[in-house]
Amino acid sequence: MDTFAFIIHPIDPKRDVSRKFPLLGRVLNERQIDFFSTFFPPVYISEIEGIKSESTGKEINGWFIACPYTPRRMMELPERTVYHKIIQTGRLAEKLGANILGLGAFTSVIGDAGVTIAKHLDVPVTTGDSYTAAVAVDAIREAAYVMEIPLHTATAAVVGATGAIGQVCAELLADDVERLYLIGRRQDALEELRERLKVRARAEIIVSTRMDVLSDAQLILTVTSAIHDVIRPEHLQPGSVVCDVARPRDASAMVAAARDDILVIDGGMVDVPGPVDFHFNFGFPSGKAYACMAETIALALEGRFEDYTLGKHLTRQRVEEIDGIAKRHGFRLSGFRSFEREVTQEQIDAVRHNANHSRKMRVAQM
Ligand SMILES: NC(=O)c1ccc[n+]([C@@H]2O[C@H](COP(=O)([O-])OP(=O)(O)OC[C@H]3O[C@@H](n4cnc5c(N)ncnc54)[C@H](OP(=O)(O)O)[C@@H]3O)[C@@H](O)[C@H]2O)c1
Repeated sequence: MDTFAFIIHPIDPKRDVSRKFPLLGRVLNERQIDFFSTFFPPVYISEIEGIKSESTGKEINGWFIACPYTPRRMMELPERTVYHKIIQTGRLAEKLGANILGLGAFTSVIGDAGVTIAKHLDVPVTTGDSYTAAVAVDAIREAAYVMEIPLHTATAAVVGATGAIGQVCAELLADDVERLYLIGRRQDALEELRERLKVRARAEIIVSTRMDVLSDAQLILTVTSAIHDVIRPEHLQPGSVVCDVARPRDASAMVAAARDDILVIDGGMVDVPGPVDFHFNFGFPSGKAYACMAETIALALEGRFEDYTLGKHLTRQRVEEIDGIAKRHGFRLSGFRSFEREVTQEQIDAVRHNANHSRKMRVAQM
């Protein structure tokens, strides 16, 4: 049977460590977990069973393995040290006999986004970023539809636009909308991206290093590698949609709590084909996975055992190809969720209603 492995790591240190080691999660505080994670070896988490392609009937198994570092630790430690730990974790995948290895969350963000890691391992590696981009853009399109925001006249924004996922999402959205903000921290990199995109983009492209321009956007796709939230409630216009792909999140629960007139959705969750059992609770309802996990699984179902998405420059061709492969095997965008809860039609109706009210209040105050 073909197999895959996927590297996860603690994102919210206390919550995530408790999921595997309840006692440690209880007695250690966040700073202690950060500190001790440096000395922890890679951890075997679970076997994944029950995945079955809808089109070919092929069944595969996999494993979750964990790199113990938290995002903060990965940013603080020297790159070489972090690579070393991820490669060690990858060797565990090789010992288990995995045919392909996926890099979850920050293990794909660090350094050159998987290139060095893949060079040091025999097992083929993918970051999962191509399918993450495909699913994020699909989610924004779908959210625009349910919120009755016409895409072709919409103003959208990509936050973290100069990043690996952000760049290619911007490229795809530039075909859909009328105006597109590219938001990041480095003006020169943003301008370079605008020059590249504007050659074939339908949208007018505006670059900014300021978050307050978000008040112009109806559709916001946010995908930074910040370790704290970067989107504030006061940045947003009534009726707008925030699709948050980043882990840790860019939009905190406070944004949704403070604003009942905007829709905040999690980017990157998909239904997995077959009666899958992950034998580990990573915070999703059963049968659902992050898009980056899904890319790894889809490649295993397809028998594409090669380095697939690596590096900081994703191509639109790869995004479209993996989207096709995943669809064929039965992966689907998984409704909307917001902060680990399903978004119901009633909530969407309420957001639209509250947005109309907020707009009227704003006009009345002018
Ligand atoms: N949901 C999923 O399935 C899934 C899958 C894969 C990855 N992810 C998440 O997606 C995010 C991005 O991944 P990536 O590979 O695209 O990362 P990346 O290539 O490192 O890009 C990150 C971008 O974020 C920007 N940034 C970093 N810190 C910031 C801050 N404090 N304020 C504003 N912008 C900031 C960076 O700007 P500079 O260019 O100025 O550094 C860069 O443009 C990560 O959170 C990762 O965990 C999610």
